[in-house]
Amino acid sequence: MEKITLGKDLEICRILNGMWQVAGSHGQIDLELAILDMKKYHELDFTTWDLADIYGPAESLIGDFKKKDKKVENFQAFTKFVPNPGPMSNSIVTHYIEESLKKMNVECIDLLQFHWWDYQNSSYIDALQHLSKLQNEGKIKHLGLTNFDTERIKIIIENGFKIISNQVQYSILDQRPEKIMVPFFIKHGIQILTYGTLLGGFFSEKYLNTDEPTRGDLTTASLQKYKNMIDVWGGWQLFQELLQILNDIAKKHNCSIANIATRFILDKPQVAGVIIGARLGIINHRENNSRVFELKLDQEDISSISTITSKSNDLFDVIGDCGSEYR
Ligand SMILES: NC(=O)c1ccc[n+]([C@@H]2O[C@H](COP(=O)([O-])OP(=O)(O)OC[C@H]3O[C@@H](n4cnc5c(N)ncnc54)[C@H](OP(=O)(O)O)[C@@H]3O)[C@@H](O)[C@H]2O)c1
Repeated sequence: MEKITLGKDLEICRILNGMWQVAGSHGQIDLELAILDMKKYHELDFTTWDLADIYGPAESLIGDFKKKDKKVENFQAFTKFVPNPGPMSNSIVTHYIEESLKKMNVECIDLLQFHWWDYQNSSYIDALQHLSKLQNEGKIKHLGLTNFDTERIKIIIENGFKIISNQVQYSILDQRPEKIMVPFFIKHGIQILTYGTLLGGFFSEKYLNTDEPTRGDLTTASLQKYKNMIDVWGGWQLFQELLQILNDIAKKHNCSIANIATRFILDKPQVAGVIIGARLGIINHRENNSRVFELKLDQEDISSISTITSKSNDLFDVIGDCGSEYR
């Protein structure tokens, strides 16, 4: 198992278990089965969870899991605070964080990742002020962000806030973070947690040599989200060329396409971890994903991937910096 230290004192597994997949639109979740499945992730040492206040039962699942399995000590749960844009008073922010603490059955949130929908509304600075106060009171261990762009993170840092991470979409297909965010993060010691690294499952043998799926074929919200990305990036035909190359590399290393896609991003500067969505109690890929930790890509692998990615549209030019797809 590969571990890394986030924010100087928080040891995490470099593959995090993503819980958006329990929020609905990814298949019906049976809560009992989900908790049993969480235990199996821990048995394989996948001890770090990524969730959000807006991911349906995710925070309560963490709380229930901890209540049921009191022996679990090595456990990190990172939630998000995703408020509707509006005035951010101390009482509003405190109320939502208290709710998360209660549901998760913890006294302190390991990493609280803050999301803000609308940069025109500068109340995000107020929210961060109250979050910092809660951090000083010991209710939040570390403050992170999600989907903030480099320009706003610069403003946040200039306002004196201590941010340890930003969670963004980052994959072989979407390498926007490298344009301006990573150089800035290297200077400021900020780490990245990534999502969309497996494109909701598109980076797998299942989609190799297949016809372009229709909307109706895409059975999860995640697949629908990343099909849009494939379209903007260069379309299905070019994506098939990429999958073919990834399949060749996977065969060479005796692993899966998903393993190659994960390792490629884990090896990037400032990336602390890759979040892989887990449809708890429905299907799991944890045995296969644990093979990422033994995998080493060589220069030939990286070069052959770039022969395809160099033919794609530049997502930074088309969409903008990280998180712009939400605004
Ligand atoms: N901050 C944000 O705005 C944001 C946005 C999106 C996601 N996230 C976070 O990131 C997490 C990841 O979600 P995502 O939507 O980006 O999905 P993803 O991780 O790109 O894809 C997850 C899907 O990939 C497939 N998969 C996983 N391992 C595999 C393997 N070894 N071989 C073949 N297929 C494999 C599974 O599909 P099947 O289940 O169909 O087999 C799984 O459901 C979320 O749960 C959430 O925590 C955050």
